[in-house]
Amino acid sequence: MMKRILITAFLAGTVSFLFAQTLATVTSPDGNIVFRILSKGETASVSSLAYELDYKQQAVIKPSAIGFVLKEPSVTLNRFEINGQQNRVIDETWQPVWGEVKTIRNHCNELVLSLKGQNGILLNFIVRVFNDGVGFRYSFPQQQQLHHFIVADELTSFAMTGDHTIWWIPGDYDTNEFFYNTTHLSEIDASSSKMSQEIAAMTFFDKNAVQTPSLMKTAAGLYISIHEASLVNYPAMDLVLDKSNYVFHAQLVPDAVGNKAYLETPAKTPWRTIIVSDDARDLLASKMILNLNEPSKIKNTDWIHPQKMVGVWWEMHVGKSTWDYAGTQDMNSWENLKNAKPTGKHGATTANVKKYIDFAAKNGIEGVLVEGWNVGWEDWFGHWKEDVFDFVTPYPDFDVQELHRYAAAKGVKLIMHHETSASATNYERWMDTAYRFMKNNGYDAVKTGYVGRIIPRGEHHDGQWMVSHYERVAAKTASYQIMLDAHEPVRPTGLHRTYPNWLASEAARGNEFNAWSVGNPPEHETILPFTRLMGGPMDYTPGIFQIKLNVYDPAKKEQVHTTLAKQLALYITMYSPLQMAADLPENYEQHMDAFQFIKDVAVDWDDTKILAAEPGDYIYMARKAKGKDDWFIGCITDENARTAAFKLDFLDPGKQYLATIYRDAGDADWKTNPEAYTIEKKIVNSQASLQLPLAPGGGAAVSLSVATPEMQKMIKDEMKMKKKKKWEINK
Ligand code: NOJ
Ligand code: CA
Repeated sequence: MMKRILITAFLAGTVSFLFAQTLATVTSPDGNIVFRILSKGETASVSSLAYELDYKQQAVIKPSAIGFVLKEPSVTLNRFEINGQQNRVIDETWQPVWGEVKTIRNHCNELVLSLKGQNGILLNFIVRVFNDGVGFRYSFPQQQQLHHFIVADELTSFAMTGDHTIWWIPGDYDTNEFFYNTTHLSEIDASSSKMSQEIAAMTFFDKNAVQTPSLMKTAAGLYISIHEASLVNYPAMDLVLDKSNYVFHAQLVPDAVGNKAYLETPAKTPWRTIIVSDDARDLLASKMILNLNEPSKIKNTDWIHPQKMVGVWWEMHVGKSTWDYAGTQDMNSWENLKNAKPTGKHGATTANVKKYIDFAAKNGIEGVLVEGWNVGWEDWFGHWKEDVFDFVTPYPDFDVQELHRYAAAKGVKLIMHHETSASATNYERWMDTAYRFMKNNGYDAVKTGYVGRIIPRGEHHDGQWMVSHYERVAAKTASYQIMLDAHEPVRPTGLHRTYPNWLASEAARGNEFNAWSVGNPPEHETILPFTRLMGGPMDYTPGIFQIKLNVYDPAKKEQVHTTLAKQLALYITMYSPLQMAADLPENYEQHMDAFQFIKDVAVDWDDTKILAAEPGDYIYMARKAKGKDDWFIGCITDENARTAAFKLDFLDPGKQYLATIYRDAGDADWKTNPEAYTIEKKIVNSQASLQLPLAPGGGAAVSLSVATPEMQKMIKDEMKMKKKKKWEINK
């Protein structure tokens, strides 16, 4: 027996020599993915275990470690006896409360290995292999040998097969608001000095560390995404690369004393997820992370509704108005707090909010977000203060009751803003009072924020305590029937399945960075769907029409790194059931023809087709509006011009559609002429295709609705007229 193992090992190379025996194999339903549990086989029963993963007969993950280092009890769990093994097939379909598709199939092969580790500690290793990837997690059953315990380290690793290309942001315990670097694994350098792009709180820890969802591409053209699913009561996982062998090691976010997780059996970790395909589009279409999350904990979900919003928001980011009452925009001046007097620059005044309500009501936008409405903005930032906001005291020029009455009369809902200034302890004390205040004043959605260093002091944005805090907020808002949009939380892991009131999170570098920092390069939006959005919807705040920002102040050098047409396309490519039309009403009023797309575009979908995609380069997508025949298409490019060419074969074959195309004009360019767009209408059907020119940093958006015979005639007549005119001009 031993001889046979050695011979196999010799043939297969050194790595297999270390893990010579395959103990169990789980294959994806389509047979493309093979997950193996390997053993070193040191003794007949006790062995170090590893896992490996193949896709279409190519190695994706080489033998990689599993296990833990525990503290209290102090024991390393890395050698196991296998006590049992259970296999089952899961095949079910379910309908999300809202989403990119109407129905989701959860189809995988599951293996549960019952293990006994050092000190006789029992744990299970659970694997689910889907057609799009693999999820595995550890669970600790209730047992005599282990009750309370502390995780000092998780030993999970991911051994990559070579020096892949990776789209990465630095590993950090407190922020994910970076733009992406595209390098080989060997070139990762997360040194914080290089990366501090005007981010409020950062905790760099290792120059070889990156965050998940992390996207890689192999030389052979395989796309690999590593992330986690169902992050509950556990810290987030960063990945630290050993450059000598391209092995990523899990690095859990610690607390103040360096511990990672405090658990009590029964306990389970989040799923570690690996999504893999040779077609980049499959990653964007993957529903594996959602499938690995628990079903909705909210029984009655009728009150949850995807929506669009405008807001007293961008005007503060571009410096036209301020959050603070005195209009200083000085965010940490105790002096201002004492002497606050209005100067006419405060944004959240009753009159200004009414302007946004009017605009929303006129254009069918459901929500109006208002920031800077409550006392505290004079000294909210930078002082690690525990009690900044109370979430119930408005500034004197913000009339809560009058605005409630006014908004209700116009069929619009105000969206509450709770900036916690990262004092989660203060927020926990106020939550009930704040949510009652919201409900009494007609609010049913809240945007939270966690700018700054976390309190409890020593905790991090992505550590276990805060992960549980964000979940408590999701659960508590749900109990008040309040929808949630979290800014600066830990990166999402599909928990919006479990808490569908949690419509969106920021948890990445949003459009706002274009307003006041070096901004986001044009490729940023072609990477986010492959990385951050793998875990859930993002409140990216698209829709900026006034792209050059020196209109607000001639000295202002920033601009949004985009064209106007690309801003429209983001409503499709940057998925969220909560989409902001982020620009100011007066800017939209100058381009109501283009704003028509934002008015029309849906925020909830029956179907999604990824037409073409390459991370860092372009994404073309089509989505079918929930319960309707309408389709919407978004195409975006990076800094390079290109033509988006695709078939419309997803349309219903028997029907004619009116296509309204919003695209970059011939002379558009994100640097020099970002606001140049043209709008065309034509009649198309499922046999047609479109070729849409995209400017450098540009995009195109298309709305398609079933054309009545009258519409078809109208368009034909218009085209005839245009041709005639051209002919007359040429004559
Ligand atoms: C950062 C958030 O991302 C942004 O949307 C908000 O306006 C500010 N914090 C102030 O809370
Ligand atoms: Ca932010």
